[in-house]
Amino acid sequence: MELLEDRGDSDPAARAMAAHMRTDLERLDRVAHRFERIGHDPKLEPVDVTVMVDRIAGYFRSRVPTLANTITIDVTHADGPLVVQGDLVLLEWVIEVLVKNAVDALAGHGGHIALSTRMRPEGGACIRVADDGPGVPRDLRVRVFDPGFSTKEGGWGIGLSLARRIVHENHHGRLSLVPTERGATFDVTLH
Ligand SMILES: Nc1ncnc2c1ncn2[C@@H]1O[C@H](COP(=O)(O)OP(=O)(O)OP(=O)(O)O)[C@@H](O)[C@H]1O
Ligand SMILES: [Mg+2]
Repeated sequence: MELLEDRGDSDPAARAMAAHMRTDLERLDRVAHRFERIGHDPKLEPVDVTVMVDRIAGYFRSRVPTLANTITIDVTHADGPLVVQGDLVLLEWVIEVLVKNAVDALAGHGGHIALSTRMRPEGGACIRVADDGPGVPRDLRVRVFDPGFSTKEGGWGIGLSLARRIVHENHHGRLSLVPTERGATFDVTLH
């Protein structure tokens, strides 16, 4: 990376490529530390959830289909910097699980994913991940957070149970499936 970044001084294309690779490398570094964070006391630090959500949206945006069965991702922040005490590595994992599920739900048809953040009047933050896919059938709503529950061929049913554990146990927050007429909407509430 350093060699590439050095060369980038004279070559704009190399500089842009090096910047992307640096971002991916930093993400991989955080991903590599995910599991070890689960079993330990949470390392809570100030996390600006608007920055985190922007970064995750950017990551997925450059990886979802854009030519056929297009998936669009947009982000809305109701407030400026929105800082909570949290474990960035784990919170990022939670939002990635939700966005990944939304992408899965839209696969083959395309659709829209809306990420949003807002300050809660009583303090803390709410992060919402909403898609306009088929949604979760009413009778399955209580089961989606169960470990091992999956409706996907080859699905592990791990994502939501893990995400809920991170939000509830490590952050004393709440992860919920919001009742909606269309699509699926998940709220992460943090203090
Ligand atoms: N956005 C969504 N739209 C529709 N159904 C969803 C959505 N998110 C989750 N689900 C349902 O909840 C189930 C459980 O999700 P979870 O992420 O825990 O497991 P999975 O995606 O099936 O497998 P994996 O462990 O690989 O993520 C899914 O199989 C799906 O039926
Ligand atoms: Mg999943």
